[in-house]
Parts: sequence; structure tokens; C-alpha cells
Amino acid sequence: MKFRALLTTLALAVLAGPLAADETELGAKMEKMGGAFRALRRQISDASKNADSLAKLAVIRQNAEASAKLDPAMTKDIPAAKQKEFVARYQAEMKKFLELTGKVEAALKANNNAEAAKLVNQLADAQKAGHKEFKKEDKKK
Ligand code: HEM
Repeated sequence: MKFRALLTTLALAVLAGPLAADETELGAKMEKMGGAFRALRRQISDASKNADSLAKLAVIRQNAEASAKLDPAMTKDIPAAKQKEFVARYQAEMKKFLELTGKVEAALKANNNAEAAKLVNQLADAQKAGHKEFKKEDKKK
């Protein structure tokens, strides 16, 4: 029934609206990194895909650079006196993350996929550590 389908679509739009509005600008950059990173992990050992892997890495790097300029949503939840230090630590972690992406890039350009794969595991570790420390939902766990 067409009318029912229309109603369902409308209901979903009404429900999804506030959910989407909940996402932060930083969250949106992270989502973009997420898509590229999933693909990168799958193909990092495949030398025939190195050109595409470099493109995925560029997406990660650009969004990480933009992320470094934004404050984590959690900043507002910690005492005012500690916020500056919290953001400085976040920025330092992001800087390290960006340096790692540079190393992956160099390994790929040298067609050293074994090294690139190792470094991508380090990116995953940095993601985990970064989320544990700076991402609201993960901090609670
Ligand atoms: C491969 C690297 C990474 C990937 C793929 C990734 C992916 C994601 C994803 C998918 C989210 C959820 C976005 C949403 O809210 O919808 C997220 C959130 C977040 N990530 Fe990452 N992340 C990475 C590295 C990092 C690093 C290194 C840090 C910190 C140094 C970090 C800090 C955060 C924070 C703070 C949030 C919560 C958003 C906010 O506070 O507004 N992430 N990330």
C-alpha cells in the first residue's frame, strides 16, 4: 500500500532527524575516516591496490587534520580548569596519529606492504586508545 509506505517514510524521517542532529562535527569527520579505514585494512597487504590504498589514506589524513582542529564533545563534561589540558592531550594524540599515517604512506609508496600492514595495526591501536580517552561513550566502559 503506497500510503502506508509514505507514512513509514515520514515516521522514519521524523525519528532520524533528531538522531542525526545529535552527531557532532567531529563525529562526522570520524565517520568519514571510518569508511576509508575499513577499506584500507581489508586491502593493505594487496600491492595491486596500493594506488587506491593511498587514496583511502588521503581521506583519513584530511579528516584527521580537520579533526585535530575540533574539540571532543567530552570536553564540556570535564571540570573547566582541566579542559585546556584535555584538549592539548587530544591534539597531541591526533598529531601522533597523523605522523603514523605519513609512515603508512611512505611504506605504500615504497611498495613495502608488510611494513604498511604493521603500521595500519598501529593506527588501529591509536584509534582504540584515542576513543578510550577522548570519546564520551567509550570512556564509560
Ligand atoms: C583509524 C582511526 C579512527 C577511526 C576510523 C575513527 C572512527 C570514529 C568513529 C566512526 C566515531 C563515531 C562517530 C560518530 O559519533 O558518529 C569516532 C568518534 C570519535 N573519535 Fe575517532 N576514529 C579514529 C581515530 C581517533 C583518534 C586517534 C582519536 C583521538 C586522538 C579519536 C577521537 C574520537 C572522538 C573524541 C570521537 C567522539 C566524537 C566527538 O567527541 O564529537 N578518534 N571515531
